[in-house]
Amino acid sequence: MSSKPIAVAIDGPVGAGKSSIARTAAQRLGFIYCDTGALYRSVGLYCSRNGVDLKNTDEIAAQLNNIKLEIRLEGGVQHVFLNGEDVSEEIRLPEISMAASAVSAVPAVRAALLDIQRDTAANSSAIMDGRDIGTVVLPDADVKIFLTAKPEIRAKRRFDELIAKGKDVKFDDVLRELNERDYADTHRETAPLKQAEDAVLADTSELDFEQSVELVCGIIRDKTKDVL
Ligand code: DC
Repeated sequence: MSSKPIAVAIDGPVGAGKSSIARTAAQRLGFIYCDTGALYRSVGLYCSRNGVDLKNTDEIAAQLNNIKLEIRLEGGVQHVFLNGEDVSEEIRLPEISMAASAVSAVPAVRAALLDIQRDTAANSSAIMDGRDIGTVVLPDADVKIFLTAKPEIRAKRRFDELIAKGKDVKFDDVLRELNERDYADTHRETAPLKQAEDAVLADTSELDFEQSVELVCGIIRDKTKDVL
């Protein structure tokens, strides 16, 4: 293992399997895993709990003074603390997804979350996933991957997950919400979701989970073979 930590940036749209694939790849390679969406979700959760108007940029930005976020790794698993409270489970609720997307369009929110993301990858080899990791957060990452799949396939995977959790959802609603969130994330002015010029495109439409993990691990091994 080289002395300099290796940084891997994985970006992509909703439901591309970034978190589950990146987490498993990180375990296999002995890297830490950082899910940056959890930070935006935590800000979204705070705003939802406090009745903040999610269309009001100034009102969202003003909340930042009241929010302290911390990432802790417990047994290799990332936990996010919002003002000292572990919100790692609650931020996963589907109703928080849209709030996260709304707050993520506010430049002050993005600026406030930069340091915590960079600090996480500073001292250990890390796989970090999000929307702007390869373009903004870690522009010098050793490996950049843009992970995607066809919208219908991503929606079907998300739908199956929600049904398995006992949620009463309709496929068309899941697909519509996914398309709306992708549209918002790719069309915002600040740090929109886009493939970095030097990112490898990984399309998992035809792959199962294990094949997707191996594809990602293969890209990382290949790009770091001189240093790993
Ligand atoms: O990856 P996720 O679904 O947990 O992310 C929730 C929202 O947060 C997503 O719709 C956009 C935003 N986000 C972002 O703007 N930049 C990131 N690096 C990660 C997430």
